[in-house]
Amino acid sequence: MASAPAKTILFGEHAVVYGEPSIACAIDLRTKAKISKSDKIEIKSRDVIKTDVDAILDRENMRNKSELRYILTAIDKTFEKIGKEKNFSLEIDSNIPVGVGLGSSASVVASTICALSNFLKEPLEIKEISELAYEVELEVQGAASRIDTSVVTYGGGILVKGSDVRLIDVNLPLVIGNTGIKGDTGKLVSMVRERRERNPEIIDRIIASIGNITLKALDALKNKDHNKIGELMDINHGLLDSLGVVTRELSELVHLARREGSLGAKMTGAGGGGCIIAYAPGKENNVVKAIREAGYSSFISSISKEGVRLE
Ligand code: MEV
Repeated sequence: MASAPAKTILFGEHAVVYGEPSIACAIDLRTKAKISKSDKIEIKSRDVIKTDVDAILDRENMRNKSELRYILTAIDKTFEKIGKEKNFSLEIDSNIPVGVGLGSSASVVASTICALSNFLKEPLEIKEISELAYEVELEVQGAASRIDTSVVTYGGGILVKGSDVRLIDVNLPLVIGNTGIKGDTGKLVSMVRERRERNPEIIDRIIASIGNITLKALDALKNKDHNKIGELMDINHGLLDSLGVVTRELSELVHLARREGSLGAKMTGAGGGGCIIAYAPGKENNVVKAIREAGYSSFISSISKEGVRLE
């Protein structure tokens, strides 16, 4: 069995697709992928395939299930990379909320590749899993950066710029607020691309500014400059709003978090719904309470030092 964590993007989502830097950290929710022998390829999952009971699908029926595209592409690409095919039964079990910007798809993909390559007796190295997982996201979404797939494979804190991936020290207790509304990453990335095509001079500058924020945040994180980290989160959120990916519910949660004394708050991930993160040292419980009282779910995340691993 293999497992991989969830993630939050601290700075730089969307801009990272255009080569700007982005910072993310792995958080301690996990997807588990268990593979056993079978006479056909089948997937069992309650979390990924939305049914009341455990769903079992064989490969022919899987192709038209859009939520399975990440898993199927991960299987195809692993077979291709290793040059071997075998029947198996894959059981996915995850406590990561699906489609709300916490990296559920990257986590499913990385844990599936890791488990399957081991089952085929050709275990892939972390770097290979990370690269293959990125290829899967690229194929399924049409456009993707390496931020999600890198952070769930390496774990801890990550700085990504293009194909350059660095491990960094990030240890912020963050409050997550979940609107419960799903966003489609591929569509949101396309929406930003179209807005950029219509307004190139304006949007290019916004994307470059987000990149600058991320670099300044890197210094602020190193220097433990808490106020600066918070302020940069607020500015980053405003620029994401100008890209068109912030919804009313995300704004509501960001403002609630600020009202409760957060040093900064922003949406995280692709947007269009999904989650916010708030940096509220010492006031985390107040922020969680306010978000819950407003009818949304919320929790305090802790960092997962470990990325994808065999269990
Ligand atoms: C999604 O978690 C992050 C985006 O920047 C897309 C990507 O980088 O692939 C919106």
